[in-house]
Amino acid sequence: MVTDFALQLRPMTKHDFLLFDAIQRDAYLPLFLENKAAFLRKVELFPDGNWIVEDGPRPVAYLVCHPWVLNDLVPLNDTSLRLPPSPNCLYIHSATVILEYQRMGIGHMLCAHAKHVAHLSELTYMALVSVQDSKQFWRKVGRFHTVRPVEPAMRDKLAAYGPDAQYMVARCVWFPIESTKSPALYNSTSNKLWTINRCRGTTSHDRQQTDT
Ligand SMILES: CC(C)(COP(=O)(O)OP(=O)(O)OC[C@H]1O[C@@H](n2cnc3c(N)ncnc32)[C@H](O)[C@@H]1OP(=O)(O)O)[C@@H](O)C(=O)NCCC(=O)NCCS
Repeated sequence: MVTDFALQLRPMTKHDFLLFDAIQRDAYLPLFLENKAAFLRKVELFPDGNWIVEDGPRPVAYLVCHPWVLNDLVPLNDTSLRLPPSPNCLYIHSATVILEYQRMGIGHMLCAHAKHVAHLSELTYMALVSVQDSKQFWRKVGRFHTVRPVEPAMRDKLAAYGPDAQYMVARCVWFPIESTKSPALYNSTSNKLWTINRCRGTTSHDRQQTDT
């Protein structure tokens, strides 16, 4: 078990595919692995929705999200993804923590950060597909609830994520990211940790580093 760590959250760029890939291969079944072209498409599409967490040189978690519309899903490995003209939710494509670092509060932090991105993008809802038995996590940390798809096309898209996949939606309750700090995230020796490269606008070059 990891007991001494100092995590940093930073924007994930097109150069980070190998780090992204190492994390996803640690955390997901083969069905959910995404190829490089799909990764690059999402980074290009919405740079402010791609974040990676590192413990020193070690990649440990990531968040991939982008504006989308409610009651629609994004297929895995979609390389021709386009942002909708009138988005009404932030779609969390993936929040992923490697096995060794799970249950330490990092997922909670990623969910809080997604809310922050939704806030900056003026989106009132968040949506996702829960897989690998993560629905209780989403209920607990993000107040997501399951929405059963009605449209056959939506049901087919959901089925492609496996038999236990659930489409979940949450109404955002916005709060400052500083208030989401979890004691579990503190470095056990220096009592210092979680540096956040906060995104201040909707463009990737307008950022400020903040120690919390
Ligand atoms: C799901 C995941 C993102 C959660 O991240 P995490 O860092 O392990 O979660 P946290 O430590 O922040 O947990 C927050 C709370 O949710 C609970 N929780 C975490 N994972 C859970 C799960 N799978 N089921 C039920 N509860 C869970 C924790 O016990 C904790 O509760 P507490 O605050 O009362 O102790 C992470 O386990 C993961 O990446 N799993 C593999 C990839 C995956 O399936 N991602 C989800 C894709 S939809």
